Amino acid sequence: MEIEVGKSGGGRMAEHGGGDDDGGGGGISMGPSTSMKERASYLVWQDLRVMLPSTGDGPTKKLLHGLNGFAEPGRLMAIMGPSGSGKSTLLDALAGRLAKNVVMTGNILLNGEKKKLSYGAVAYVTQEDVLMGTLSVRETITYSAHLRLPTTMTNEEIQDTIDGTIMEMGLADCADRLVGNWHLRGISGGEKKRLSIALEILVRPRLLFLDEPTSGLDSASAFFVAHALRSVARDGRTVISSIHQPSSEVFALFDDLFLLSGGETVYFGEAKDAIEFFAESGFPCPIKRNPSDHFLRCINSDFDVVTATLKGSSRIYEEREEDPLKNLASSEIKATLVEKYKWSKQAAKARSKMKHISTIRGPDAGTSTVSQVGWWKQLTTLTRRSFVNMSRDMGYYWLRIIIYLAVSICVGTIFFDVGLSYTAMIARGACGGFITGFMTFMSIGSFPSFIEDMKIFTRERLNGYYGCAVFILSNFLSSFPFLVAVSFLTGTITWNMVKFNHGFSRYAFYCLNLFGSIAVIESCMMIVASLVPNFMFGLVTGAGVLGIMMMTSGFFRQLPDLPKPFWRYPISYINYGSWAIQGGYKNDLIGLVFDGLAPGDPKIKGADVITKLFRLPLSHSKWWDLFAIYALLVSYRTIFFLVLKLKEKALPIFQSMYAKRTIHRLKRRASFTKFPSSRRYQSLRTLASQEGLNSPIP
Ligand SMILES: Nc1ncnc2c1ncn2[C@@H]1O[C@H](COP(=O)(O)OP(=O)(O)OP(=O)(O)O)[C@@H](O)[C@H]1O
Ligand SMILES: [Mg+2]
Repeated sequence: MEIEVGKSGGGRMAEHGGGDDDGGGGGISMGPSTSMKERASYLVWQDLRVMLPSTGDGPTKKLLHGLNGFAEPGRLMAIMGPSGSGKSTLLDALAGRLAKNVVMTGNILLNGEKKKLSYGAVAYVTQEDVLMGTLSVRETITYSAHLRLPTTMTNEEIQDTIDGTIMEMGLADCADRLVGNWHLRGISGGEKKRLSIALEILVRPRLLFLDEPTSGLDSASAFFVAHALRSVARDGRTVISSIHQPSSEVFALFDDLFLLSGGETVYFGEAKDAIEFFAESGFPCPIKRNPSDHFLRCINSDFDVVTATLKGSSRIYEEREEDPLKNLASSEIKATLVEKYKWSKQAAKARSKMKHISTIRGPDAGTSTVSQVGWWKQLTTLTRRSFVNMSRDMGYYWLRIIIYLAVSICVGTIFFDVGLSYTAMIARGACGGFITGFMTFMSIGSFPSFIEDMKIFTRERLNGYYGCAVFILSNFLSSFPFLVAVSFLTGTITWNMVKFNHGFSRYAFYCLNLFGSIAVIESCMMIVASLVPNFMFGLVTGAGVLGIMMMTSGFFRQLPDLPKPFWRYPISYINYGSWAIQGGYKNDLIGLVFDGLAPGDPKIKGADVITKLFRLPLSHSKWWDLFAIYALLVSYRTIFFLVLKLKEKALPIFQSMYAKRTIHRLKRRASFTKFPSSRRYQSLRTLASQEGLNSPIP
């Protein structure tokens, strides 16, 4: 990880406060210093197109139309445009985080090399805040700092950096308040946004993307946030941020501007030159108007229809002659600006600069934000954080512990002192089946928390905080005390109340059997959580998987009766339930002797109950059954690891294959070249000029 942090966070502010003096556009001609060069990330994108292929034969929607641009270290770039213009799509495309249903073409060069930016190459503050709700603001930043700041820093230096970042983001007042989640009201939306930014600027990443970091903030907070971003940029970092309706003070802090409308470049170049460009194109910014408001007013075609309707009404009839903007539809203004920009001197300047920048070679920034903290420190920090989260989140384990307690007492009273009568054979079997089946089924209750954990993992993994193995291990270690509590509590209550076969080793086996089963099912639920897109899918899929496990455990349908292909082999073998039931029955029944059906009938041995009534083999000991459960636990955790790895490694390959196939398919489709990209952004330009010569299809 390439992290460079000032010795003191507070000092860093002072250090960069002076950065403003080098003027708004000073950076473009500024020769970077040697240390700046070492951490420089020059990003260039060429002919970047993003398309949403239609499933049927309809037109393909173009989200980005062959964008060209670059971002330099030391400068802060704003991506502006109306809602839906493609700002997030551009950032996602640059960060290699596009949704799977879209296709991208074009080149992205990082320090002169074609690169796909993902997993730790870029720190990205997304539009949605994904935070751990049970931690306070200070704790969130502290854990993040310990996960990523280099081990060469002393504790005091790390503490200084944390305090400095809290001050810088104006979070001092809420530093000790909890972030909050679905059942816990915490800090405000704006504070969450600033916390998300704080987590990333903490380590001064080489390449920082932010999607609307000032949305939801008042103008003063927005100014301070933008100022902090500028100070990060002045530290030699490359910062790109999309931004909605900035005030003139905030706008003045940006060095470069990428103005988008309907996925097309309206303007790209130095922010201060944009006013001149608009004036030259016939749409000068009125003296008292905020330039960014003017730009967006010119290109936001969303309300053209509304304006046209209102024009017909007497309310605005009187005003219409005065403002040239009112006489033209925004789609016409946008089309004019897009066309004029192509031939403007600002575009020529940007093109030549881009050409130069794409030849600059720098240090390998491919993994610039990957943590440099040692594996052990990551594991202990993550385990601590995860344990704190689990112990504070009522829904994670506490609720389940209470329900387990209540259900155990219910089971204990229903099967109380089950005895050795003829019917007790069935009762013992049913009780064992219920405990290994239903008790473990309750793991599904913590699904919402699993999903939240997965969201946080995905964000942190993409930003290079830690690896998959550390996450999986820390998750297991932090849940370990809770699983022990659940299984030993349930085990002790039911074992004593039902009066299963006595002896300490039998009690220990009973609890270990329960612990193993719950741990396996938790691992299984984590696998489901990593595969599904959201909570609802997870809940339904998880319940389905658990249902199948219950059905094939040998209680509802005895193992020899299960259809051989699939259900018996392999499902019943990879199901913890069948091993848990076999082990549990052996643990309880071997050594017992039951009454016959009628008085005077011969006694029935427990071993015979297992082989004849439950039709289970006695060819191996109960400890082998227990071993099988623990082997399954290791396998499930390994599968969880492989799923996460596969998603990281294989998905991009599939995505690029899908992209190639889709482009090939689109090439042959007439509609691809005949229809405009989006009805929403239909411009008045000819179809040929929209789709013609520089089509993404070679
Ligand atoms: N994966 C996707 N599938 C379908 N449509 C998409 C996808 N990604 C983006 N779009 C569409 O592309 C357009 C641009 O979306 P994007 O989120 O980039 O806009 P934006 O400029 O960030 O808007 P906002 O300011 O509201 O966040 C929208 O019309 C959106 O519906
Ligand atoms: Mg967006």
